[in-house]
Amino acid sequence: MDQTKFIELLNEDLEMEYRSIVQYIQHLAVATGAEFQAVTEAVRPHLNQELEHATTLAEQIDFLGGVPTTAVPDVPSETDTRRAFELDLELEHQQLERYRERFEQASEAGLPDVAEALRPLLEQTQDHVRDLQSALGK
Ligand SMILES: [Fe+2]
Ligand SMILES: [Fe+2]
Repeated sequence: MDQTKFIELLNEDLEMEYRSIVQYIQHLAVATGAEFQAVTEAVRPHLNQELEHATTLAEQIDFLGGVPTTAVPDVPSETDTRRAFELDLELEHQQLERYRERFEQASEAGLPDVAEALRPLLEQTQDHVRDLQSALGK
């Protein structure tokens, strides 16, 4: 894979992190109901980690000679608590898939420093999927 394509994919990952941040801010603010207290507590630390993920991606894009995007994708508004967290789970699943690919691509492209930088994103996204799954009883 050429570097331009790889940067393009990282910028798509970055847009998804922006989406993640926007979603979590809305969903945590509107979450109601005692039955969702556990999931709200589990999810709250995700928000700061998404900010770190976005920052890491932007730094790696710059390191590779690209320009980190400022484009925030359209984010669906969801105020029903269960559906909101299900939407978050869906997004985390997509991101996990993408980070698995990205980690492999970075390793294959002979970019071990980039792969190392992406490792926490992969691991924490795995945790986010697990947190949401167990909190939603899935
Ligand atoms: Fe993230
Ligand atoms: Fe996440």
